[in-house]
Amino acid sequence: MANALPLLDNPRRPVHPLLDMTSTRGPRDELERLRSELARHNYLYHVLDRPEIEDAEYDALFRRLVALEAEHPEWVTPDSPTQRVGAPPADALVPASHALPMLSLDNAFSEEELRAFDERVRGLVRDDAVRYVAEPKLDGLSVELVYENGRFVLGSTRGDGFTGENVTANLRTVRAIPLRLRSDSAPPPARLEVRGEVYIEKVALQQLNRRREGEGLAPYANPRNLAAGSLRQLDSRVTADRPLRMYCYDIGRVEGLHLESQLELLTVLPTFGLPVNPLYALCETFDEVVAFYRKVQSLRESLPYETDGIVVKIDRFDLRREAGSVSRSPRWAIAGKFPAEQGVTRLLDIQVSVGRTGALTPVAVLEPVRVRGVEITSATLHNEDEIRDLGLRIGDRVIVQRAGDVIPQIVGPIPEERTGAERAFVMPSMCPVCASPVVRLEGEAARRCLNTACPARIRQSILHFVSRGALDVDRLGPKLVDQLVGCGAVTRPGDVFRLDRETLLGLDRMGPTSADALLAALDAAKSVSLPRLLYALGIPEVGSHTAEILAKRYGTLERVIQAAESDLLEVPDVGPATAEAIVDFFANEENRRTIAQLLEVGVRVEASSAASPTTGALTGKRFVFTGTLASLTREEAGRRATVKGASVSDSVSSKTDYVVAGAGPGSKAEKARELGIPVLSEQEFLALVSSDG
Ligand code: IVH
Repeated sequence: MANALPLLDNPRRPVHPLLDMTSTRGPRDELERLRSELARHNYLYHVLDRPEIEDAEYDALFRRLVALEAEHPEWVTPDSPTQRVGAPPADALVPASHALPMLSLDNAFSEEELRAFDERVRGLVRDDAVRYVAEPKLDGLSVELVYENGRFVLGSTRGDGFTGENVTANLRTVRAIPLRLRSDSAPPPARLEVRGEVYIEKVALQQLNRRREGEGLAPYANPRNLAAGSLRQLDSRVTADRPLRMYCYDIGRVEGLHLESQLELLTVLPTFGLPVNPLYALCETFDEVVAFYRKVQSLRESLPYETDGIVVKIDRFDLRREAGSVSRSPRWAIAGKFPAEQGVTRLLDIQVSVGRTGALTPVAVLEPVRVRGVEITSATLHNEDEIRDLGLRIGDRVIVQRAGDVIPQIVGPIPEERTGAERAFVMPSMCPVCASPVVRLEGEAARRCLNTACPARIRQSILHFVSRGALDVDRLGPKLVDQLVGCGAVTRPGDVFRLDRETLLGLDRMGPTSADALLAALDAAKSVSLPRLLYALGIPEVGSHTAEILAKRYGTLERVIQAAESDLLEVPDVGPATAEAIVDFFANEENRRTIAQLLEVGVRVEASSAASPTTGALTGKRFVFTGTLASLTREEAGRRATVKGASVSDSVSSKTDYVVAGAGPGSKAEKARELGIPVLSEQEFLALVSSDG
């Protein structure tokens, strides 16, 4: 048996049965068990939203699998959970045809139109006991997944209904999609084509859009655009970075399984581990359909996903066949759309705001208008190209909509209503706040103010620093921050901890009680958990979820700072864009000064069990690899060190603990010798990582 690496050496920690190496199973067997265990936890977490283990334990299982696969690359199969990180970019998307066409739906825009559908159906179908299943209509991208003997072999977009695009590699990164079907109750069918919607939750889209705006990228207008943009990617690592989900609601060709109705389908699919939206209704009468339509409409704002109506389908498949289809839509189903979400108002002005990263964002100032019960007074215009593409002029009558429940959006002007008094908008060539020249960097849609001392940039970064998910000092609101930045008392996050009573008392509406309370709150905020601190720093691409993951993986700020890009890429959920952003952030002088100042003024990472790093025989040891290794690649070697708790970096410094030199080592080995750092041969390294200590 190949050397099995003991993973958790800390005896006090309960060890997952699969990580208990005292049993004598072979590595092949262990690998299979790890895969199905990981798939099960994935299902519990992503589909049922009912996790049974801590993230750290999941990560440990995952890393154990990575290590095993590194030892046995010949056993790596596309359905391994390790393959969800994305494959290297493809040259082009390849067409994939559907065995049975993927139809689209006719729309009903009102309850009356829904009733007309019901009447039509009753005229077409003999059985007057026809009943319906009604489901929310999800706003995403429809896809087809093909499972052969329980294995996910092909995933495609709908395309024109007959032929879509093969997006298998991208769909593999969607964690709600099982790579293998569960088969606890029965063996999986020989072939199962299942269809459904890939979508993103509203909050996740908002988060992603905030991040994109910070980067000067155009936000996604709605979940559909995001799902399409993410799935029709040539680089599946980009898809892996997106929190996509899926709900299944239909089947294509199926062999080895007989389903008779939608209700049966919705009940059986989850037993295979396929995600199904729990919100649906079996409607015996048309009145029940209407009741469901109203129910979803009233739940609409509070649902985690975007829905623009319901889909009503005849339940029994034999009756569907009787009803048949016309051209591309079935006569047995209809989409009941909710009323319009658009309104008409006037574009009063376009103002330009400056974000944390200096990106200039034009914002539409609108005459207030109610759309779907919410008053809209402004809308983001993202960048100057968008204003040009829309052909907007200040003073225009415009159509606005609540896009995907996210950000109000301008659909376009109504040129016929122009009076001639409208004027064109010109993007400023100087920062509207600090008047420094702005630049449009190559490949970016946004102009940026590059002045790191720009009060707008400082204001935004301070507001982010003290925001709820960060240091959470809610006494430090926008008005106070404006004053503090305005008078020059605060120019970097750390300055807030240097504020004294006297300075505070000099501010508007600040009495001794408030000043003391703020000072006490700031003092308390100095002790912060690592994930919050990482989030507070405002690293591009790092939201609170990623901050959480980084904290778990590295345990200390120091180690996150030192992490090499290759090492970050090993962290679950960290894609290439994020890894690069993290490395760039910590390489930046200005950011380093900010961090140094925080430590100087007494900001401390509070000890927390959740933030404890993985422990192993090599916990805390830092490795650098150089030269060509004979029996494994550097990546594999790196993984074997990291499973033992070590970290890997690219360059040798006084902090390096070991340099591992293969054939033809370069200056790194030399530098190590100069610094008195032990240089290990490949054999010595292998002995070190496979020893039990
Ligand atoms: S059933 C022929 N159910 O709506 C019926 N479709 O306009 C097959 N959609 O392409 C579709 N939620 O992308 C069905 N619960 C749901 C749906 C749904 C969203 C989408 C799907 C389809 C489009 C039709």
